[in-house]
Amino acid sequence: MIAVTGATGNVGRELVELLAAAGEQVTALSRRAPGATLPGGAVHRVADLDDPVALPSALDGARSLFLIVAGSVPEAVLKAAQAGGITKVVLLSSQGAGTRPDAYRHASAHEAALRTSDVEWSVLRPCGFTTNTFQWAEGVRTRRTVSAPFADTALPMIDPADIAAAAAVALTEGGHHGRTYELTGPESLTPRQRAQVIGEALGEPITFTEQTPEEARSDMLHMMPEPVVDATLAILGTPSPAEQAVSPAVEHLLGRAPHSYAHWTERHLSVFR
Ligand SMILES: NC(=O)c1ccc[n+]([C@@H]2O[C@H](COP(=O)([O-])OP(=O)(O)OC[C@H]3O[C@@H](n4cnc5c(N)ncnc54)[C@H](OP(=O)(O)O)[C@@H]3O)[C@@H](O)[C@H]2O)c1
Repeated sequence: MIAVTGATGNVGRELVELLAAAGEQVTALSRRAPGATLPGGAVHRVADLDDPVALPSALDGARSLFLIVAGSVPEAVLKAAQAGGITKVVLLSSQGAGTRPDAYRHASAHEAALRTSDVEWSVLRPCGFTTNTFQWAEGVRTRRTVSAPFADTALPMIDPADIAAAAAVALTEGGHHGRTYELTGPESLTPRQRAQVIGEALGEPITFTEQTPEEARSDMLHMMPEPVVDATLAILGTPSPAEQAVSPAVEHLLGRAPHSYAHWTERHLSVFR
């Protein structure tokens, strides 16, 4: 049995579907109950990684764990997971843990705790998710407008479905112990180019308005803590060569290229219509 934390999130939801479709027994974990019915073979249990005391019983029967970066004491989460019978962990970390470890201290701390534990482990370090552009949905739906900063800075955003597929491989196949995978999409696109992709999929032009970094910062502060906002803006505005590079890891793990932004947009077009 495989346990999936963050099971109601962008990555976890896809992973639960993938594992269940492959015939695995899945325990889907989150603090709140899932909004939609889970696929056959999956059961939901409540778990709060900030309070891992109940984690061992929630994990009952599972040997492998897909772990998100949550919970203020990573060592306590891992200890509780091992007490629950877990022997293999695939951690969903972040590209920033490699490129900006000071700003991504939380993810770095989870990675460090995992590397010094005695479970079998793999680390996934994805760059920014295509699902972050759900933030544009209301502007596109109501005004056919996208407002975003750093209009012409390209980054290779990744489709969470590809992260889930990579996680499924690391969870269900051997040969991934001790490996850290940098995961990106197949191409670097700018925000202006992404808005154009959405417009092409809708068959209508989208107006792009470039926000100042200050305007974007003030919007983002409604959604994330200040240090995360500043680290995210630094990547969006002044990415390092490593943050702009397309990684071969998704293709290496899945035997196919990662999904393009156009592919992701087609699958979520109803949100922008
Ligand atoms: N978005 C990006 O660009 C990006 C880039 C790199 C890495 N990441 C990492 O990827 C992770 C997953 O992203 P996502 O888009 O799938 O997230 P998401 O859609 O926001 O979902 C987060 C999931 O985690 C659960 N959760 C949150 N805090 C929890 C806690 N303390 N204990 C147990 N469950 C908890 C949530 O459910 P409940 O609220 O019901 O518990 C939900 O299922 C993020 O947390 C981030 O660290 C994101």
